[in-house]
Amino acid sequence: MFTRILFPTDFSSVSDLAAAYIHKLREAGAQEVLVLNVIDPSSLLAPAAPGPLGGVGATPAMNQRAVEEWRESAMEACGRLADEFSGVGFTATATVEVGDPAKIILRTARAENSKVIVVGAHGKGHVAEFFLGSVSDEVVRKSHVPVLVIKP
Ligand SMILES: Nc1ncnc2c1ncn2[C@@H]1O[C@H](COP(=O)(O)OP(=O)(O)OP(=O)(O)O)[C@@H](O)[C@H]1O
Ligand SMILES: [Mg+2]
Repeated sequence: MFTRILFPTDFSSVSDLAAAYIHKLREAGAQEVLVLNVIDPSSLLAPAAPGPLGGVGATPAMNQRAVEEWRESAMEACGRLADEFSGVGFTATATVEVGDPAKIILRTARAENSKVIVVGAHGKGHVAEFFLGSVSDEVVRKSHVPVLVIKP
C-alpha cells in the first residue's frame, strides 16, 4: 500500500524515530524511500540568526554562498540516511531542494507519486505548546496522500 515513501527531514532527533517507523513499513511491503531536505533561505539568512555568511548586511552573493555550503552538507546527511535505508533493502534516493519547506514537500510528493509522507510532529524549531510544527501542520492539511506524523 505504502510502496513509495517520501521522508522529509530537517535532521532533528525525531528523524531517528521516523527512520525506525520507515523500517517497519519495509516489513509491510514498502519498497522505495526518497529522503528530502529543504533549505529555507529565509531561515538560513534571517537577521535574527546571522551565520558567518548570512544575516544583516549580507550581499546576494554571500547569501548564495551560504545556501551552497548548506546544500553540500545537507546532501551528505541525506545520502547517509538513504544508505541506511538501502542497507535494509529499500531502493533509496536523496535530494536537497531550496525554497519553502512545506510547499516543496507537497510538490515533491506529487511529482514523485509518493504513496505516504512520513514527517516528525516537530523539528528543529520545536515549540512545545503547539501540537504540530508549522511545516508538518501545512503538510498534513494540504497533502493528497496519507501523512504519518511521528511524535517525539
Ligand atoms: N526544511 C525541512 N526540510 C525537510 N523536512 C522538514 C523541514 N522542516 C521540517 N520538516 C519536516 O517537518 C517535521 C516537523 O518540523 P516543523 O518545522 O513543522 O516543526 P518545528 O521545527 O518544531 O516548528 P517550526 O518550524 O514551525 O518552528 C520535521 O520533523 C521534518 O519531518
Ligand atoms: Mg521547523
